[in-house]
Amino acid sequence: MRVTGGDAERGRVVALNHGCGACHVIPGVRGAVSWAGPPLSEWARRGYLAGHLPNSPENLVAWLRDPQAIAPGSAMPNLGLTEAEARDTAAYLFTLGAERLPPVPAGQPMGPKEAGPREEPRIRPRA
Ligand code: HEC
Repeated sequence: MRVTGGDAERGRVVALNHGCGACHVIPGVRGAVSWAGPPLSEWARRGYLAGHLPNSPENLVAWLRDPQAIAPGSAMPNLGLTEAEARDTAAYLFTLGAERLPPVPAGQPMGPKEAGPREEPRIRPRA
């Protein structure tokens, strides 16, 4: 899914520089291996954000700018991202998990095979 006006590569750098990896697993962001918060892998396939908002780019941008406004008392801090930084970060997160599958619109169940096991494991088992 394209996030209007966001640049995914810049967003990856925003996530790196704002320490998102202190709390999240984020594929492609060096050091982002913490399980303090929910993992953000396969983000494009996520149906909901913070447990109740449909996972749309606009909602993600709003979340990144001010998590407390959406989930008061949430442990996710407000990291002071600008609108542009939040847009770029959202663009990056929406590249995760979008490689093979068309994006699933928020709240819509995935079709047969879309949620099933991958044809090839990402990490090959040891021979
Ligand atoms: C201090 C730890 C911490 C930091 C730093 C942090 N987060 Fe979070 N984040 C959380 C927690 C905890 C949640 C779960 C909050 C909730 O659902 O109320 C969360 C939730 C999220 C969600 C929604 C996840 C879901 O499954 O609904 C996204 C997206 C997200 N964070 C992105 C980021 C990004 C991008 C950054 C860096 C700009 C960042 N976070 C920095 C702790 C953190």
